[in-house]
Amino acid sequence: MMNFLILGRGKTGSLVAQCAKERHHHVHVFGSDENQAGKALTHDLLRDVNAVIDFTTPTSVMEHISACVREKKNMVVGTTGWYGNLGSVRSKVEDAGVGFLYGANFSVGVNLFFDTVRSAAEAAKHKYSGQIFERHHQHKKDAPSGTSLVLQRIIKESSGTELEITSFREGEVVGMHELIFDSPNDRIYLCHDAKSRRGYAEGAVLAAEWLSGKTGFYDFKDIWREL
Ligand SMILES: NC(=O)c1ccc[n+]([C@@H]2O[C@H](COP(=O)([O-])OP(=O)(O)OC[C@H]3O[C@@H](n4cnc5c(N)ncnc54)[C@H](OP(=O)(O)O)[C@@H]3O)[C@@H](O)[C@H]2O)c1
Repeated sequence: MMNFLILGRGKTGSLVAQCAKERHHHVHVFGSDENQAGKALTHDLLRDVNAVIDFTTPTSVMEHISACVREKKNMVVGTTGWYGNLGSVRSKVEDAGVGFLYGANFSVGVNLFFDTVRSAAEAAKHKYSGQIFERHHQHKKDAPSGTSLVLQRIIKESSGTELEITSFREGEVVGMHELIFDSPNDRIYLCHDAKSRRGYAEGAVLAAEWLSGKTGFYDFKDIWREL
């Protein structure tokens, strides 16, 4: 049983709290009202916390990371949109000797999908033309999705071909990613369709458990097989 401080009471942070409780952890959750500009993350508050889990915003997460590094608290970051600072965060984490795990996608299913796509990328070397489609709810601000950019990168690395991404924003779609390879003879169709955000939340809690007692800088895509 661990003490988690979850930052973010939004769609994903709330589910992370629920999953952590189901796994019998102690959970405190702070939204932006309780933690303006990361001000709540004091030495006293963090003393008994085993790990901080962040699902907030690209603008607030850097303050949270600085506070956790300063107080030598392990941290799991699901928040995206701050990766331009990855290098400097990595240095700070390693200098402080703290544990830090981040990931653009904490769903084990999506990470399995990435592996499937990596082997299917061979098609691009055999006269197949490929396309990536991604669908998300109408509230999603960024396009294309981070996950579709990872798919594009995997195919580029494996085959040298850069596929076009087409984004759709509609209704309350949680997240659907499709990869289609088409040839005159046949069509290969790969799809990951998230039914809920629970896959991300469960992955984040398992990642925080995995990080316990560790120091270093980790990407979820490199460790999910160990969960
Ligand atoms: N890695 C993954 O697997 C994964 C999966 C899903 C989402 N995400 C990422 O996680 C982030 C959150 O996504 P979401 O869908 O949950 O968004 P969301 O519903 O908009 O929730 C974000 C929450 O962060 C809160 N917040 C902002 N500043 C804060 C602060 N200083 N302290 C505490 N809470 C603060 C906001 O509170 P207010 O509303 O009060 O401002 C809001 O409730 C995004 O960057 C998203 O891309 C990652």
